Amino acid sequence: MNTFDEIVAADRRVEPRDDMPDGYRRTMVRQIAQHAHSEIIGMQPEGDWITRAPSLRRKAILLAKVQDEAGHGLYLYSAAETLGVERTDLTERLISGRQKYSSIFNYPALSYADVGVIGWLVDGAAICNQVPLCRSSYGPYARAMIRICKEESFHQRQGYELLMTMMRGTRAQQEAVQNAVDRWWWPSLMMFGPPDADSPNTAQSMAWKIKRHTNDELRQRFVDMTVPQADRLGVRLPDPELRWNAERGHHDFGTPDWDELRRVISGGGHCNAERIERRRAAHENGAWVREAAEAYAAKHGRERRAA
Ligand SMILES: [Fe+2]
Ligand SMILES: [Fe+2]
Repeated sequence: MNTFDEIVAADRRVEPRDDMPDGYRRTMVRQIAQHAHSEIIGMQPEGDWITRAPSLRRKAILLAKVQDEAGHGLYLYSAAETLGVERTDLTERLISGRQKYSSIFNYPALSYADVGVIGWLVDGAAICNQVPLCRSSYGPYARAMIRICKEESFHQRQGYELLMTMMRGTRAQQEAVQNAVDRWWWPSLMMFGPPDADSPNTAQSMAWKIKRHTNDELRQRFVDMTVPQADRLGVRLPDPELRWNAERGHHDFGTPDWDELRRVISGGGHCNAERIERRRAAHENGAWVREAAEAYAAKHGRERRAA
C-alpha cells in the first residue's frame, strides 16, 4: 500500500480507488469538468460553419474536427465520473452557470478564416496546455489527455493548412486571415489563465503534480512557438511590443487585457448567453434519447437476470 503522498512523490499516477485528500478530489473534478465543458461548448463556434464550408473537402475536415471535440468531451466526462460524480450533474452545473468553460469559446467565428485561426491558435494553445497534462498525477485524466493531444495536433495542422491556402489566394482571403488573427490573438493568450501573481491555486496544483508548469511559463512557450509560424504564414501578430529578447532567449510580448478576461469569464462576452442557451436546448432535445437508452438497458438487464 502506498499513501497518496508517496504516489505523488514517486511521480506515479493516482488511481480512482486510491485514497486522496478531499481538496485533490474537488480540484480534479472541477478541472476535468471545466475541461469537458470546454470541449463540448467549443464545438459551437466552428460547428456554425459546417453547412457553409467552401468545398466538400473542407466540410469533411471540419466535420471530423468538430466530432473529435465531442469525443474529447465524452472521454473527460468519463474521467470525471471515476471521481464519484455523475455526468448529468456536471451538465446541470454547466447549463445553470455554476461551472465554467474556457473563455475563448465566447468569441464569435465571423468568417471561414476563423476556422483556420481557431485550429492554428486555439487548438495550438490547447496543445501547449495539454501536453504537460499527459503527465498529470491523476491516472484517468493523464491517459485521456494522451489521446486527446494526438487529435489536437491534427486540429492544429488542419487550421494551419487552411490558412496557408488562404494566404496563397486572393487579397480578400489574405485580409480575412489577418482580420481573424487580429481578433483571436489576445483571447488565445488568455487561454493560459491569469498571470501567475493572480493565480492562487497554481502552487497547490503544482505540489500535487496536477500542473507541471505555471500559466506564464506556458504562455511564453506558446508565443515562442507561434511567432515563427506567423512569419512563415505572412501574417502580423497584433502586438507592438512583440520582439525577440536575445538575453532571455524568448520573445517579449505585451500584456493581455485581464479586465476583458474577467468580464468574459463572468458572463460578459459576446456569446456567453447564446452558447449556454444552445447547450441547454441540445440537452433538453436529447432527453428522449437518454430515456430510451435507460429503458433499453433496464429491459436487457431484466432479461439477463431472468436467463
Ligand atoms: Fe479538443
Ligand atoms: Fe481541438
